[in-house]
Amino acid sequence: MKNVEKNYSIFESSQRGRSHFAPLALAMGTLTWRDVKYTVRTKNADGNHNGTREILRGSSAYASPGRVLAILGPSGCGKTTLLNALSSRLDVKRGDTLVGDIRFNGTTLNRDSRDVALSYVEQEPKFFSNLTVRETLELDARLRGESDADARDVVEATLRKMSLMSCADTIVGGDTGGKAVAGISGGERRRLAIASETLGLGSDAQSSGLVVLVDEPTSGLDAFQADKMVDKLVELAERENACVVCTLHQPRSASFAKVHDVLLLASGGRTAYHGPSDAVVKYFSDIGYECPEHFNPAEFLIDLVSVDVGDGADGTDTETKTRQRVERIVECWEKRAAGANDTIISAHGAPTKRPESREVAIKKPPGPFRQFRLLAGRAWRQAKREMWVNGVRMIASVVLAGAFGSCNFKLGLGPRSVKRRIAVLMQACINTSMLALVKSLNGFPRERATVRREMARQNGGYKPGPYFLSKLLIETPIDMVFPVVFGGVMAPMVGLNKAGRKMFLSTLALQSAAAASLGLSISALSPNAEVALAIGPCVMVLNIMLGDASGAFAEVPDALAPVSKLSLIRHAFEGVLCSEFEGLVFEKHDTDAKSVADASKPRALKIAKRFGEGIAPRTGEDVLRGLALPISGHARRAANSQCKVIALNIAVTYVALVCKKG
Ligand SMILES: Nc1ncnc2c1ncn2[C@@H]1O[C@H](COP(=O)(O)OP(=O)(O)OP(=O)(O)O)[C@@H](O)[C@H]1O
Ligand SMILES: [Mg+2]
Repeated sequence: MKNVEKNYSIFESSQRGRSHFAPLALAMGTLTWRDVKYTVRTKNADGNHNGTREILRGSSAYASPGRVLAILGPSGCGKTTLLNALSSRLDVKRGDTLVGDIRFNGTTLNRDSRDVALSYVEQEPKFFSNLTVRETLELDARLRGESDADARDVVEATLRKMSLMSCADTIVGGDTGGKAVAGISGGERRRLAIASETLGLGSDAQSSGLVVLVDEPTSGLDAFQADKMVDKLVELAERENACVVCTLHQPRSASFAKVHDVLLLASGGRTAYHGPSDAVVKYFSDIGYECPEHFNPAEFLIDLVSVDVGDGADGTDTETKTRQRVERIVECWEKRAAGANDTIISAHGAPTKRPESREVAIKKPPGPFRQFRLLAGRAWRQAKREMWVNGVRMIASVVLAGAFGSCNFKLGLGPRSVKRRIAVLMQACINTSMLALVKSLNGFPRERATVRREMARQNGGYKPGPYFLSKLLIETPIDMVFPVVFGGVMAPMVGLNKAGRKMFLSTLALQSAAAASLGLSISALSPNAEVALAIGPCVMVLNIMLGDASGAFAEVPDALAPVSKLSLIRHAFEGVLCSEFEGLVFEKHDTDAKSVADASKPRALKIAKRFGEGIAPRTGEDVLRGLALPISGHARRAANSQCKVIALNIAVTYVALVCKKG
């Protein structure tokens, strides 16, 4: 304890009349971390592992309740990595190592810790773009277990606290969950992110267990907005007695003066200073680095621990000089902080001071059924507000159907129509599949970023099942409307079999759902949207290649025949072939306008001759026999197979969502 006293004595400056550092023991509700080391395997340009890199070389510090700890340091020094490590969010890959001891009140902290509400606010938080600020927060509150009435009250209070009243009914906007739409400003978005992550936590109690980690809340904001953001963080810390830890880039001096504590990091996450913000200038002055008068202390600090790569204007080796300076600063701190580590050790053992703390206000989360209802409500709202996009899809379907219909107008029932019918049916299947696949590949990965953040929340997170089911239930029926419109316009124009029309449209609708489900599974398995968009169309081309098992256009090699059963194009194609040709009777001569006009051409005469010789089919059943398809009832069997393909893709997507934690 002697060491502790000695250590704290350097922090006794209290320019703002605060005495937060007066207590010699760490308060109940303190977040401590000790020797956090993170090493990753590095790769060269060819992607081969060529060594290791220590990103955090043993960070030790603590964050006190009721105070804001600002982490400062040059870009790449490990600020975000440290926050991720504290919140158990580091994606530690095989070969990487993360060690260290992170505790809250002396108990190991991880995502499952129940005695602390841990909130993490990402640098670029993503939201569902078509929900208003109020709706977003109300859903968050309900997912945290608030009743509908309480959720409204909690949200009203939060909107006021976070100065979001003026934009409460504005849609959030952004490019997540669908398309890019204009919405709230950058500052409002950041405040919404903090509100969303801390909503209702400790709202009715002086929570002793609230930790809020915020990555770069002020980046991208103008100086005024950034200052307001720091105000909000300070308010949050003081009002909720929360440990607020944030990384800051270039705070202006007024903002810097508002944060209570500073953790200055040099490269490798090594500590250059940790203590009250109002003592930092004196500390550096004591070790020989005087902050010039009227200079922003934050900029001064970052300059001190930054290495200037390259030679100075006068030819001096600034890199070596600045490197030596950083090493000296880190060494100075290590010597000074030897006592502080003892404090951390004691805090790791048990809380040393027990103030008038109360239980953390974490409500029982809603069950899967309520989660499903809440998420289905959001999916419906999101879809409803994107109706104009669906309007565009509708127009595109009608135009495309018109184009198909015009190119194959009234085929008639002559011998020539057989091949053209088959071609139209194949094109309809491919068109339907491609449109659904691209929509799914485009939308789902962007939505997943938002969903992954929400699912990962310690409070108010939800399971993949309710989310995925709600999404399917709302979006699939909407997606199935477009192929029906397409087919409904195209079929009479082409003159497709009226008797099989219902089955034809149902097959196209199912095909749309099947292709969308394939898009979901590819997106869920892919690491990001770019990979999904790159491999999705290739997978579809393979499906098309394997889809013509009937041999109408190309033969599938025998070796690949079993795989072709997985092709969603195959089942759709067989379905539409059967619905079209069952019961169709052909005429002896082509009667469609094009054939009549071409009648005198040698090719037409040749076909007519073949028909005369009995080579051309007389009925649809002849065609189906020629394609080695059953002559009746096969359309339904094909539909069943389509459903199986959908189920398989849904299962793959679900497993990927569960296993990949989002
Ligand atoms: N998984 C990883 N593999 C390799 N290098 C990594 C990995 N994660 C982080 N790094 C590297 O570690 C360093 C620290 O990254 P980090 O994002 O924590 O920096 P930062 O201090 O937050 O920087 P900034 O201020 O620019 O946001 C960077 O140089 C980064 O490239
Ligand atoms: Mg960062």
